[in-house]
Amino acid sequence: MSRTPPPQEAGHDARRSRQWLAGEAHGAGVDRDGLLELGAAMAALTAAAAEREPVAVAAAPVGVDPGTPIRKPLRPDLLRPLDTNAEMRWTALAGQGYVVPNDRFFVRNHTVTPRLDPDAWRLRLFGTGLRGAPARDTPVEFGLDDLRRLPAEESTALLECAGNGRRFYTDQQDEPAPGVAWDLGGVGVARWRGVRLGTVLRLAGLTGDAVDVMPEGLDPDYVTGGRNLGRVRRPLPIAKALDDVLLAYEMNGEPLPADHGFPVRVVVPGWIGISSIKWVGPMEVSATPLFSPWNTQFYRMFGPGQPAGGGTLAVQSIKSAFELAWDARVTVGEEVLLRGRSWSGAGPIDRVEVDTGDGWRPADLVAADRGGPWQRWTVRWRPPAPGRWVLRARATDVTGAVQPDRAAPNDLGYLFDGVVRHPVTAG
Ligand code: MTE
Repeated sequence: MSRTPPPQEAGHDARRSRQWLAGEAHGAGVDRDGLLELGAAMAALTAAAAEREPVAVAAAPVGVDPGTPIRKPLRPDLLRPLDTNAEMRWTALAGQGYVVPNDRFFVRNHTVTPRLDPDAWRLRLFGTGLRGAPARDTPVEFGLDDLRRLPAEESTALLECAGNGRRFYTDQQDEPAPGVAWDLGGVGVARWRGVRLGTVLRLAGLTGDAVDVMPEGLDPDYVTGGRNLGRVRRPLPIAKALDDVLLAYEMNGEPLPADHGFPVRVVVPGWIGISSIKWVGPMEVSATPLFSPWNTQFYRMFGPGQPAGGGTLAVQSIKSAFELAWDARVTVGEEVLLRGRSWSGAGPIDRVEVDTGDGWRPADLVAADRGGPWQRWTVRWRPPAPGRWVLRARATDVTGAVQPDRAAPNDLGYLFDGVVRHPVTAG
């Protein structure tokens, strides 16, 4: 289950940002100047706001078949394709339980789902934060069977893309942002099973000097704005890595599906989805701060009111969604049971209100979900007259954060938290 992240995590990020701006960056791949250039490219993209982030695939790592962008069938009633990604349709959750079944769980791929051989797969830990400071080419290795022999844990955790809801910056606020135009379906909760990252780090010889851990995916390098940014990777502070982070090899009781990181992925509860690196292979454990384009250039809050170098983007925003088709048809005078879910990276949901056209009223919360990473709720509604109606849901989390009518915009369209206006037609 997710929990309220300790406050030191925001402080950690602000400190890393200052270090990066001061030129203390250490992270394989792209140097600070290169990233600043990329920043200019992203700014240009923002100006041409309707554009999507260009996606190009460089050569796959040796021995990796680049495969197809997404391996599982994209049933149109369950998933909506978006470039190399697919979002869950909220109607596909109607009548489902707490977790999102694997066949409809959203997929966010920077490039493609790689085909990895589980027998040859190795987790490779190296770096100055491990005893003897093993080098990248002489790492401490764990095979899948090694991980399976270690004590297993289960965690019901929510995964969400930081750009989830981005479309509403355009559609509701007329403030378009570049990037994948997610509705609200870039989110899901699953039961993950695996071994705690902390257990593996300690076995690998973690020292008291370690400050950051950077998992890298084995999917093809990510190329954007004419630059090869290397493998998808994002550092985690050691405090989070030793807390509730899992190296997961099962999802909802099945071996991890190919699109969700087979054979092993990182699951970082409460943090934005990019932290949960899929198809993890190499993992640097460092006694000095680590950086990557995914915590300096992307997945930061840029724009008016944000600090130089961008604002922190670790914990997810608060949102609500109806398990109902967009423009659903309902019958005048006939009661419907409206269902939905609300969630927040800052902690469990405390309260949900719904407006069906005559003011806010409390929704009934499913008692069994209290304290969990998302909260199911219901409201009864009898459409009083034919025509277009707008349904709205707004949540409050345990920290007191309430969804605003309008989300504060940022250049890359992250962390939408505004109340979504969901149209229905009564006839
Ligand atoms: N890990 C790798 N290696 N490559 C990726 O493209 N996408 C990230 C993260 N981990 C990504 C990755 C992002 S942005 C998100 S939101 C989640 O994976 C999505 O996980 P899912 O596809 O299992 O839903």
